[in-house]
Amino acid sequence: MKTETTIQGLAASLNPARAARKIIGFVPTMGNLHEGHLNLVREARKLCDVVVVSIFVNPIQFGPNEDFDSYPRTLEHDQHLLADVGCDIVFAPSVEQMYGNQPRLTNITVGGITNDLCGAQRPGHFDGVAVVVTKLFNIVQPNFAFFGQKDYQQLAVIRQFVRDLNIPLEVIGVPIARAEDGLALSSRNGYLSAENRAIAPTIYQSLKTAEQALQAGASLPDALANIRNTLMQAGFAVDYVEARTPELQPIEVFNQNTVLFIAAKLGATRLIDNLQIKFSES
Ligand code: PAJ
Repeated sequence: MKTETTIQGLAASLNPARAARKIIGFVPTMGNLHEGHLNLVREARKLCDVVVVSIFVNPIQFGPNEDFDSYPRTLEHDQHLLADVGCDIVFAPSVEQMYGNQPRLTNITVGGITNDLCGAQRPGHFDGVAVVVTKLFNIVQPNFAFFGQKDYQQLAVIRQFVRDLNIPLEVIGVPIARAEDGLALSSRNGYLSAENRAIAPTIYQSLKTAEQALQAGASLPDALANIRNTLMQAGFAVDYVEARTPELQPIEVFNQNTVLFIAAKLGATRLIDNLQIKFSES
């Protein structure tokens, strides 16, 4: 496995694969890797000849009061994990390599689906994601790119601008990897105190309880209110509890496949999760 830190170096590493028309798979990450990230790499390994993983903590997707400076940077450990799951090339550029020192005058805003859920709480966040992912797509020029359903809205945003801008690659969504107690794996879980780590699985439990209730005939507003109450009683500060269609359109009644979304804070740590719930007419 090679590590490249410059765009030129990466191009030199990838050019032979491109010339041989090999299938290139790409997994963008911010590092501090866990099984959720590694599953994306395993998926890429199955479908592609060459697997590239980027590790880049992207400053422009963090708000001024967010955790850019303290975001965990664990490159050496990440390299070991990636070598073990068959990654071929790690791309770990500096901020300067990605953004240079000229001002950036171009932005990418995906309308509609970025206005609420995490978009409402994190202004500019999805623009920052769209810009960096587009730059990375242009640098790596993959055939397939892999993203987790954990960040469901992010995946929808990426699918949207790839379609809107005719970016020539296929986006693959990969299911959420969870700890044994159900907590969705996240680099930010490391911020939780032992006490809060024990409370955190309530998020997934409340989603599963809502799934059972909905499939047994409960109303959507009741199911959402129950989630909210459960979380508040457990000590969370709830950002949102919402139900959407899989395409992120608002939904009032559980009469089609539905995705439930939660964002909630435990102390200073903001956690997100979602669950896709099947509707079957019986
Ligand atoms: P990061 O949070 O490092 O996540 C990288 C990828 O791993 C994303 O596609 C995310 O959805 C996926 N992922 C994280 N936890 C997961 C889990 N428990 N199960 C499945 N997939 C999981 O998302 C980003 O970085 C950045 O916004 C990025 C796309 C790299 C742009 O900077």
